[in-house]
Amino acid sequence: RQKLMTKTPVTVTVTGAAGQIGYALLFRIASGHLLGADVPVRLRLLEIPAATKAAQGTAMELDDCAFPLLAGVDVFDDPKAAFDGVNVALLVGARPRTKGMERGDLLEANGGIFGPQGAAINAGAASDVRVLVVGNPANTNALIAQQHAPDVPADRFTAMTRLDHNRALAQLAAKLQVPVAELRKVTIWGNHSATQYPDVFHAEAAGRAVKDLVDQAWLADEFIPRVAKRGAEIIEVRGASSAASAASAAIDHVHTWVNGTAEGDWTSAAIVSDGSYGVPAGLISSFPVTSTGGKWEIVQGLEISEFSRARIDASVAELQEERTAVQGLGLIK
Ligand code: NAD
Ligand code: LMR
Repeated sequence: RQKLMTKTPVTVTVTGAAGQIGYALLFRIASGHLLGADVPVRLRLLEIPAATKAAQGTAMELDDCAFPLLAGVDVFDDPKAAFDGVNVALLVGARPRTKGMERGDLLEANGGIFGPQGAAINAGAASDVRVLVVGNPANTNALIAQQHAPDVPADRFTAMTRLDHNRALAQLAAKLQVPVAELRKVTIWGNHSATQYPDVFHAEAAGRAVKDLVDQAWLADEFIPRVAKRGAEIIEVRGASSAASAASAAIDHVHTWVNGTAEGDWTSAAIVSDGSYGVPAGLISSFPVTSTGGKWEIVQGLEISEFSRARIDASVAELQEERTAVQGLGLIK
């Protein structure tokens, strides 16, 4: 389906388009929430062959919404075709862990997905391509894709910890009885896993230091584990992993990346480390970040307490173990 538009549409490729996050994500992209209310988009949906029919059904529904910004929708089962000319790539589709699967099996199965997708992005993406990996294990999947795209600047590959960031904001807002909009400078460090470290030591609530408003026991025993294990809690209560909140966080991540962070605030994103805060260079780890001119920058100069240091190190150690495991499997060099 083609429509006449004045601006050139931005090409957005979504993998795992027939999955539950895909279903929550696509309609918000098509209605202008990803890039802005005046930016037309062309959607390219990638699925495995068994799910392309379901993706076609979603494409029909997208048509039926008559979104003024939607320039077209195409469905693919071939990564090369799906990523041809892509400006924004949302890598959502991944192999979930099934019964009896070891961690190595999961990493290997996902290496088989994210390696070829990285290579396809390398071969055909637009020069301004920006990639967000949502599919788990998100940081290491992003690393695999990035390592298969040597011609794309490494800083274009990111993994999602915005959901963890948003969960931290929601928990703090409830605890302090302040609106989410009054919170600033919360950070998620490390891996999108239960080892992540949600850090409020530099955070502000309505202009006051959060660390003066909460006690250490609440932080260590309630807030940090609550945020870090929220994904598992949602699976337990909902009976399926988070979908609409994950889609919403993906929208937030790309919107901030393209349109910038608010003055006096930062957000969290897993980006390629430059060695800041002792995180080994090359790992895709979550940091406090700002975005200016379409580029993430790590917030520098933050004082890191012993309490924080131990937790950052633990999550970074897990990322290093994952990197070593995928190197051992021959998925990256
Ligand atoms: P889902 O099982 O509903 O959908 C996944 C879809 O991906 C399926 O339709 C499947 O056919 C497709 N897929 C599998 N391999 C593919 C490939 N090679 N190419 C294209 N598509 C492929 O899962 P979901 O609930 O939508 O979740 C998707 C992923 O997001 C999972 O890995 C989940 O763990 C992860 N997740 C991450 C976060 C985060 O914060 N980073 C949050 C929630 C979920
Ligand atoms: C989440 O944080 O909700 C997900 O990453 C959980 C999962 O394992 O899919």
